[in-house]
Amino acid sequence: MSSLLVEIDPVVQTKDGDPLGSVFIETYGCQMNVSDSELMRGVLGDAGFSSADSIQEADVVLLNTCAIREHAEERVLGRLSQLRHLKTRKPDLVLGVCGCMAKHMSEKLMDRLPYVDLVLGPDSYRDLADLVVRSRNEPSLSVRLDRAEHYDGVDPVRTDGVNAWVTVQRGCDKFCTFCVVPYVRGRERSVRSDEVVRQVEVAAADGFKEVTLLGQTVNSYHDGVCDFPELLRRLSNVQGIDRVRFTSPHPSDFDDRLIATIAEVDEICKFVHLPVQSGSTKVLKRMQRTYSRESYLALVERLREEIPSLALSTDIIVGFPDETAGDFEETLELVRRVRFDFAFMFKYSEREGTVAHREIPDTVPETEKSSRLESLIELQSRISAEVNNEYIGSVLDVLVEGKARKGKGRVYGKSDGFKTVVFTSEALPNTIVPVRITSATQKTLLGEVTA
Ligand code: 5AD
Ligand code: SF4
Repeated sequence: MSSLLVEIDPVVQTKDGDPLGSVFIETYGCQMNVSDSELMRGVLGDAGFSSADSIQEADVVLLNTCAIREHAEERVLGRLSQLRHLKTRKPDLVLGVCGCMAKHMSEKLMDRLPYVDLVLGPDSYRDLADLVVRSRNEPSLSVRLDRAEHYDGVDPVRTDGVNAWVTVQRGCDKFCTFCVVPYVRGRERSVRSDEVVRQVEVAAADGFKEVTLLGQTVNSYHDGVCDFPELLRRLSNVQGIDRVRFTSPHPSDFDDRLIATIAEVDEICKFVHLPVQSGSTKVLKRMQRTYSRESYLALVERLREEIPSLALSTDIIVGFPDETAGDFEETLELVRRVRFDFAFMFKYSEREGTVAHREIPDTVPETEKSSRLESLIELQSRISAEVNNEYIGSVLDVLVEGKARKGKGRVYGKSDGFKTVVFTSEALPNTIVPVRITSATQKTLLGEVTA
C-alpha cells in the first residue's frame, strides 16, 4: 500500500427508467480504495443509480475511507462534520461512510455521528445499492468481513486516468504489529486468475494500455493453480496491454522466479515499490516484518543485479515503539545505501486493535518522531534529486496522462520506471512518446520529444 491521497470524480452509468437518485463518492487513502470506489460505481450503476457532478447535487454521498493512521481518520471526521450542514439543509440526503475506517470504527461511528445513515465495510459492496435504499428509512450498518468475497464478476466503472487498477488480492495475513489492515480488510484471498485475466481484457478493450495489479502483499498471490509470476506472464500476453505494474509486494515473498519474470518480460515495468519500514533488524522483529535488514539489502542487490535499470521506492515508519537513536541511524544508513528513487515516510501512529496497541506502548515522544521524520525526508529528498539527475541525457518512453498544470503546451506522463516526465507536446493522453530528459528536480523529469 502507499499513501496516495486522491479525490476522484464520480461517474455511475445512468439507466433508463426511474433513477434511484444520484451518487457522489469521495475517496481517501490508497490505490486499493480508488479501485474499490470504481467497484462501488459498478454496483450502483448496475442497480440504476446515476452520477452526481458535485456533492451539492448528490442524493447520496459516500466517503470511501482509510484507517491506516490516526490522521487519515481525523480527516474524514472533519469532512463529515462539514457534510452535517449539508444534511441539515437537505434532510433526504443519504450520507455513508465506507471502507477501512467504517470497519475500524463500526458502531462507534454511528453513536458518535448520528447523522451518518450508512456504515459499510470493505466486504459489503455487493449489497451497496440495497443498503443505500434501505438507509433512506433506517440507519444501516454492514461491516462483517467475508473471506469468500472476491467481487468476482463485478465490473468496475473507471473514470480516471490512463492506468487501470485491478485488484487481484484482498485482505492481508501478515499481521505486522503496527498495522490495522488485517483487521479492517480481513484475511488474505486471491481473485481467480481467469477472472483477473478477464478483467484485464475488459480494461484493454476499453482502451487501457497500462494495468496495475493491487494487493496488500501482492506477490503472495496464489489462487490454487496460478502464482504471482505466472499471473504476470499471463497478463503481459493480453492484447493491447503494454505495461503491467503491481503494488505492493512484501520483501519476504519476493523469490528468484519473480525477479527473473520481471527481468524477462518486457511488458512488466522495471519499477518495484518494496516497503522496508525500518533499517533496524531489532525494530523489524518487533514489527513482525519477517525479514532482517541484511536479507532486505540482499534482496535489493539481487534485484539490481538481474534488472540493472530497476527503479525502487519504499515505505518507512519512524518512531516505532522503542526505536532508539541507533535504530533510526540504521534506517538512515539503509536509505543512503539503497538510494531509493522515492519513499513514503510516516511517523508511527498507534492503531486500536493492532498487536502494538495491545502489547507495545507508544514510547517515542511526538517531538522526537517529528524530528526523525524531518531528517529522513531531508535525506531522501536529496537522494531523489540526485537519482533523477542521473536520468539527464537518457531517452524514456512516456505514457501521456494529460496536460501539465504549469507551462502552456506541456503534457505529463509516466516512464516505465514510474518517473513523472513533463515535456512540450501535442500528444494525447494514453499515447506513448519517447522523451529525451534535459533536466530534473527531486520530483519530476523535464524533457523534449525525440524523433
Ligand atoms: N503508523 C504509521 N504508518 C503506518 N503504515 C501502516 N500502518 C502504520 C501505522 N500504524 C504505513 C506503512 C505501510 C504504509 C501503507 O503505511 O509504511 O507500508
Ligand atoms: Fe499491513 Fe503488514 Fe499487511 Fe502491509 S503486510 S497490509 S503493513 S499487515
